[in-house]
Amino acid sequence: MRIPEELAEWGKKKIEPYPAEGFVYGGGPQNPVLMLVGEAPGETEIHNGIPFSGRAGKELMLFLDRAGLKREDVYITSAVRSRPFKWREKKERSGEIILKKYNRTPNEKEIRAHAPILDWEVEHVNPQIIMTLGNIGLKRLAGKAIKIADVHGELLKQPVQRYNEDGTYSWTKKDFLLFPTYHPASIFYNRKLLETIHRDFDRLADHIREIKHL
Ligand code: URA
Repeated sequence: MRIPEELAEWGKKKIEPYPAEGFVYGGGPQNPVLMLVGEAPGETEIHNGIPFSGRAGKELMLFLDRAGLKREDVYITSAVRSRPFKWREKKERSGEIILKKYNRTPNEKEIRAHAPILDWEVEHVNPQIIMTLGNIGLKRLAGKAIKIADVHGELLKQPVQRYNEDGTYSWTKKDFLLFPTYHPASIFYNRKLLETIHRDFDRLADHIREIKHL
């Protein structure tokens, strides 16, 4: 399923004031066992329109495989749908200095610009478990106070944050099952996290097995 086109057009307009390019739709089945919430697309994703299809995506597919899941089984989305970038100088082999676009973490304004899109997905996709990948997705849904190091690999039953038009967030009345883990790209900077993420996905697989047998 996909968000309504008017909502996508609205999101494209909202992100315009910020240095962020492209627009990648979330995608996957309705009522899936799992919805994945990442951070924002990168360069690969804005070119082919497929979430988590770049370097981090390759790692993510290996993690899903570990939990017995395929891309088609899960709904994949992110807090921000455009690629936040910054310009930086890069030295070419020839010695020439060029300006290049690099990915960066989305800021609070960018997260708010696309918050109604994620809210729509949380409401309509109806996953059994929402897995946040990294801090951005976790804090967007579970609030600023939560720390990934404290809660990764745990199944949390709690309300999630919804964005209001006045710029505030409020908690849903309903409880959701949240399962936080680290972003797959984190292993590129900290190889030790690979083992942690593997353990988290093994625990996720246990929860999914339990849900399926209910
Ligand atoms: N990181 C994300 O959060 N989403 C993508 O699609 C790619 C990388």
